[in-house]
Amino acid sequence: MNVQQPGPGEVSFRAGETRCSLGLGLYGWGEDPASAAGEVRLLRQALEIGYRVFDTAEMYAQGGSERVLGQALAQAQRAGLRREELFVVSKVLPQHASAAGVVAACERSLQRLGLDRIDLYLLHWRGATPLAQTIQGFEQLLQRDCIRQWGVSNFDLADMQELMAVPGGAACAANQVHYSPSARGVEWDLLPWQRQQGMAMMAYSPFDQGGLVNHPALQELARRHLATPAQIALAWVLRQPGVMAIPKAGRALHLQLNWAASKLVLNAQDLADLDRSFAAPRGKMALSMR
Ligand SMILES: NC(=O)c1ccc[n+]([C@@H]2O[C@H](COP(=O)([O-])OP(=O)(O)OC[C@H]3O[C@@H](n4cnc5c(N)ncnc54)[C@H](OP(=O)(O)O)[C@@H]3O)[C@@H](O)[C@H]2O)c1
Repeated sequence: MNVQQPGPGEVSFRAGETRCSLGLGLYGWGEDPASAAGEVRLLRQALEIGYRVFDTAEMYAQGGSERVLGQALAQAQRAGLRREELFVVSKVLPQHASAAGVVAACERSLQRLGLDRIDLYLLHWRGATPLAQTIQGFEQLLQRDCIRQWGVSNFDLADMQELMAVPGGAACAANQVHYSPSARGVEWDLLPWQRQQGMAMMAYSPFDQGGLVNHPALQELARRHLATPAQIALAWVLRQPGVMAIPKAGRALHLQLNWAASKLVLNAQDLADLDRSFAAPRGKMALSMR
C-alpha cells in the first residue's frame, strides 16, 4: 500500500488518507433551538476559515450537535463545498454498542447529519458490551457504506491491546483521548504504541475545557510568541506527529485564533520551559477522561 507521508499540519490515517491535524469539537453545540441559527452561521465561518474536520456525537445535546452540523454542511455544500473535503466524526454511546445497536445509532446520526456516510465513527467509551459485538456492527456499517472508517475513544493501551486481539479489531483507525499540556499520561505508552501502529490519535479537550486558557505557565511563552496562552497549548499538542486536536470554540475570534495557532512553531527552549511547568510522565498513569 502506498501510504502518503503527512505534510505539516496533517495526520495520516491507516487507510492512507491524510487530513488536517486541527478540527473543531462540537460538544455543547445544538443544545438550545433558539441558538441554532447562530451556531449554523458560526459553523459556516469555521468552514470559510478552513476547518474541514468536525467532531460530534449522538450524546452531544442528544443529537442537537449533529443537527446543527448537518444544517451547516448542507448549506455549505449547496454553496459549492465538496463532500470529499469534509471529515465528519461522530460517536456511538456504549449503551448502543451491540451489533444491532451500533447500526441503528449510526442510522439515526446519519439522519440528523443529513449525510449518507460518516467518515470516522467511534465507540465513545468502553461499556459492558463485548468488543466483538461492536466490531460486528462497525463491519456491517462499512459493508453498507454508512461509515468510511471506525475507531474508539477513551481506550488506554490495555484496552487497545484487547481490541487488537478481537477478530477485525486491527482495523481500528483512531483513538480519541484527552491530551493537553497538563494531561500527558498518553506520552508514556499509548501515543508511542499508536504511532508504531500508524493509528491516529485525536486529542480532545486540549485546553482542559477552558482550564488552561489563562494558565500562568503559558503566559510567558504567549508573550514571547505574541500569542495567547490557549494558542501555545494548542500548538504544543499539534506539534506531535500523528496527533489531531479538536478544540471546541464557540466564537468567531476563538475559531480564528485556534486556526492561527496551528501555524505557530515552538522551539526547543519553549518545549523545555513547558516541560518544567507540565512534567512529562515518568511512569504509567491512568488515562485522563473528561
Ligand atoms: N471523546 C470524548 O470522550 C470527548 C470528551 C470531551 C471532549 N471531546 C471532544 O473534544 C472537543 C473539545 O474538548 P472540550 O470541548 O471538552 O474542551 P476544550 O476544547 O479543551 O476547551 C473548550 C473551551 O475553551 C475555550 N476556547 C476555545 N478556544 C479558545 C481560545 N483561542 N482562547 C480562549 N478560550 C478558548 C472555549 O470557549 P468558547 O466556547 O467560548 O470559544 C471553551 O470554553 C469537544 O467539543 C468534543 O468534540 C470528546
